Amino acid sequence: MVQAVRKEPVGVLKISTTGRYLPRAVNLCCCMRLVVAGGTKVLKQLDEIRERAQTAVALAVNLEELESLRVRFLGRKGEITQILRQMASLPPDERPPVGRRANEIKEELDRALSARSEALLGQTLLAKFEREKLDVTLPGRPVRIGHRHPLSVVQEEIEAIFLGLGYSIVEGPEVELDYYNFEALNLPKDHPARDMQDTFFISDDVLLRTHTSPVQVRTLERMAPKLPVKIIAPGKVYRRDDDATHSPMFQQVEGLAVDKNIRLSDLKGVLLTFAQEMFGLETRIRLRPSYFPFTEPSAEVDISCVMCGGEGCRVCKDTGWLEILGAGMVHPRVLAVSGYDPERCRGFAFGMGIERVAMLKYGIGDLRMFYDNDLRFLEQF
Ligand code: PHE
Repeated sequence: MVQAVRKEPVGVLKISTTGRYLPRAVNLCCCMRLVVAGGTKVLKQLDEIRERAQTAVALAVNLEELESLRVRFLGRKGEITQILRQMASLPPDERPPVGRRANEIKEELDRALSARSEALLGQTLLAKFEREKLDVTLPGRPVRIGHRHPLSVVQEEIEAIFLGLGYSIVEGPEVELDYYNFEALNLPKDHPARDMQDTFFISDDVLLRTHTSPVQVRTLERMAPKLPVKIIAPGKVYRRDDDATHSPMFQQVEGLAVDKNIRLSDLKGVLLTFAQEMFGLETRIRLRPSYFPFTEPSAEVDISCVMCGGEGCRVCKDTGWLEILGAGMVHPRVLAVSGYDPERCRGFAFGMGIERVAMLKYGIGDLRMFYDNDLRFLEQF
């Protein structure tokens, strides 16, 4: 191509031999403006590029090839851009149609490139799915979300009630010394009350604890002589028991309060508050005289039947009452062996079964269900 030497030609001379427009020579005398290709020729060139580009795009077999075609035709140094550069050498009145056409072709080519790349992408994915036998229309597998075990829910509820009453939560070992489980609780080796709490013995002196009461002694030993002591101790316990209402492993919450002037009425008040928060404000409690070697006096505590409200029904065996825990005033000997002076302080203690509370709360007939891990049961909570 011959470069124009002056921006503004003084004249235009058309040289035509075959009826086609040929490159023009402009003002040959002094300005020497030479236009190599006329507007029509450029349009033809554009159409030829378009033709070639469309065919190449249609035949492209992968995305890399498409990208190189984009560069080759539409890029900054691409064929169409080159043509547009030449426009400056056309007479002003012939530029607009060339510009318009060039833009049309650019847009058209751009669309063709996008369409082809989408088609190729689709083909690639389909081929991949075919290879992997992946059915993308299959609904996903739902993620099963678990929840807390009903016994954990009840334990946390019990804890929340006593935390609200100013108690702290403590824990003790499940593998316990005979001393804490029996001896310090006023149950010497030959005591007949031991028979009711047979358990797994690891050695003569080490056993799986039969109740959470040893935590009373451990706590008092640790705290002595500080007052007041107000704790609950939840945890697993073990006994030689197995039927619809007893399991060889079950869970208890121990309660202990020791202070200068603790009375039986304090115990009754705390237990009534607990029963009403757990089972409803209409709940009443009663204390029946009982016996535990580590409390004096001792009591079994009943709540009014959660089913009939006290009228009498199958659940309460027509008594109107349900037993939920054992309790009493801490025996002076227990205080003494743990480092407290029974002349200066007194306390109450209680122990309840978490399974029992949960069974009453949810109306569950068989304690073993808690440990069967049957989802049909567990999913109901
Ligand atoms: N430890 C007793 C039991 O398991 C319950 C209890 C605890 C009784 C505290 C009195 C005081 O049967």
